[in-house]
Amino acid sequence: MIEVNNLKKVFKSTKKKVEALKGISFKAYPGEIFGLVGPNGAGKTTTLRILATMLSPTEGDAVIDGISVKEKPMEIRKKIGFLSTETGLYDKLTGEETLKFFGKLSGLDEKEIKERSEILFKSLGLEKDRKRLVSEYSTGMKQKLSIARALIHNPDIIIFDEPTNGLDILATKTVVDFLLDMKEKGKTVVISTHILDVIEKVCDRVAIIHKGKIAANEHLEKLKENHNAQTLEEVFFKLVSFEEEKS
Ligand SMILES: Nc1ncnc2c1ncn2[C@@H]1O[C@H](COP(=O)(O)OP(=O)(O)OP(=O)(O)O)[C@@H](O)[C@H]1O
Ligand SMILES: [Mg+2]
Repeated sequence: MIEVNNLKKVFKSTKKKVEALKGISFKAYPGEIFGLVGPNGAGKTTTLRILATMLSPTEGDAVIDGISVKEKPMEIRKKIGFLSTETGLYDKLTGEETLKFFGKLSGLDEKEIKERSEILFKSLGLEKDRKRLVSEYSTGMKQKLSIARALIHNPDIIIFDEPTNGLDILATKTVVDFLLDMKEKGKTVVISTHILDVIEKVCDRVAIIHKGKIAANEHLEKLKENHNAQTLEEVFFKLVSFEEEKS
């Protein structure tokens, strides 16, 4: 389980100060997919990077399965699988070698790496490409390999920033089905995206984030009901334009 408590993040440079997060709180539960949705610059990546201990919060904290990201970042890293839009892959390795490399970094032995690789290549539809060099991979194949890389150690907590970025409808479906399978297995999954269709397909609970604040946080169906909307898109426009008017 993830509990995010009043996260604030201020980025300071010599010239200016950006208040990226102005007090974000939410909870994500095992066996559920929680979606963070919001326009560009809303604070989605900043929130997820704090959860993944890549950034420290200016104020507030997040607690993952009882462990604080501020107090024990190294323990958190073992528990989570983090996919960022900048997850690195090495061109000169094959898909298989990539998983071996990152599996070793996570402390897995050969047998565990082999078993996990089989499962991940199969469920992500990368089996026939596993022996090819990453430099020969398409955008979609790289994204799927990045997902496999993030989950090689079979973490209970999955934090994915824009998991379907750059994917066509077929690859998107593979990733969507994969996420639903993770949920079935009881994992706690948090994703960010601005692709509302993906949110509608996978998320149980959704938080709309805008200008560093949570504008709504509900079960998907309840959110639509409360705003008298047929689609998430309608809710999104209502809330985001309302916030624009206020500011
Ligand atoms: N390292 C940084 N230094 C300064 N400002 C930053 C930094 N990272 C993010 N920001 C600012 O924080 C705000 C939130 O950015 P963030 O990347 O979290 O948005 P996002 O919701 O992920 O947007 P997108 O949909 O474009 O990915 C933006 O105003 C951004 O310019
Ligand atoms: Mg982002």
